[in-house]
Amino acid sequence: MKTSILSPSPSKTDIVQEVERLYKIMKTLNWTREQCELIAPLTWEINQRKKEQNAVILAHSYQMPQVIFGVADFVGDSYGLSRQAMEVEADTIIFCGVEFMAETAKILNPEKRVLIPSLEAGCSLAEGITAEDIINLRNQHPETPVACYVNTSAAVKAECDVCVTSANAVEIIKKLDSDKVIFVPDKHMMNNLGPLTGKDIVGWTAECIVHNQFTKEQVQQLRSEHSGIKILAHTECDPSVVMVADFVGSTGGMIKYVKTSSAEKFALITECGLAERLKVEVPNKTILGSCVLCPHMKSINLENTLQVLRSPSPEHEIEIPSTVSTRAKASLQKMFELTTEK
Ligand code: 13P
Ligand code: SF4
Repeated sequence: MKTSILSPSPSKTDIVQEVERLYKIMKTLNWTREQCELIAPLTWEINQRKKEQNAVILAHSYQMPQVIFGVADFVGDSYGLSRQAMEVEADTIIFCGVEFMAETAKILNPEKRVLIPSLEAGCSLAEGITAEDIINLRNQHPETPVACYVNTSAAVKAECDVCVTSANAVEIIKKLDSDKVIFVPDKHMMNNLGPLTGKDIVGWTAECIVHNQFTKEQVQQLRSEHSGIKILAHTECDPSVVMVADFVGSTGGMIKYVKTSSAEKFALITECGLAERLKVEVPNKTILGSCVLCPHMKSINLENTLQVLRSPSPEHEIEIPSTVSTRAKASLQKMFELTTEK
């Protein structure tokens, strides 16, 4: 890959146009023109270098709006991003999301270069279980299929039978030929998946540091303060929260719900980046966010994204041993096979 620390230099007109492009979008989020002027040289250079290096940016919906609207080529949930990663034609993928998502892109595209801008972009779920834990679970529950959430390391995916995301977990678990299923690592999701699939789900005890913070009382308060509001909760929330929501699912599912519903007001019980995205994309509806930030997602910014384009250091490049990658890919391929909505 061609990289250079020399900045491509924008003309005055380039920057004026970039400020206008950003301001048109960001004013919905109450950004001022001055704030757009501050980031315009960065977004301009990132977009320029992407073209020069034949690179694309895949970003999760929890990313900051300046990443989503300033530089991303595709924005989505874990499932959408994994599908998109398979279709990328560029030589390099810059992943503005968390490490397990970048790893998934690499597993699906071993020949491409995958870079992650921040080394802080972990995930409390992915860090909550090891490959050895899966081997022990299999010994405790012989003959039981193992479905692992995509929020896991490549090594964990390699030990599972099928990978799932919040967009397809219910569909896939229902299709598995067993009344009992091991689901790892999210404790709340495991408890939600029992009633949602009608199966006996056993699993693990990891939690998402963001979704673990929401309570049933908060949801009830929202309902009492906003008549007609629709409450959308992520599958990683505690079952007591899910029970009082109007919709439960992935961030992609929530976006679809808001865009297609005839209701006018929505509360998103998930990381607050999703609300920021939807305020821009669906300006005619009222979106209430949560103000709970994922520090891992938010460790990515325009500066470190530009840095990996200027001069990536080896730690930012995702590498997975081929013995692990091949087996992890089989779990992901099984997921694609069992998911109806492509
Ligand atoms: P989604 O796949 O629903 O976007 O979820 C990803 C995630 O990390 C939720 O916290
Ligand atoms: Fe992981 Fe939770 Fe952050 Fe999603 S929001 S990346 S599950 S810690």
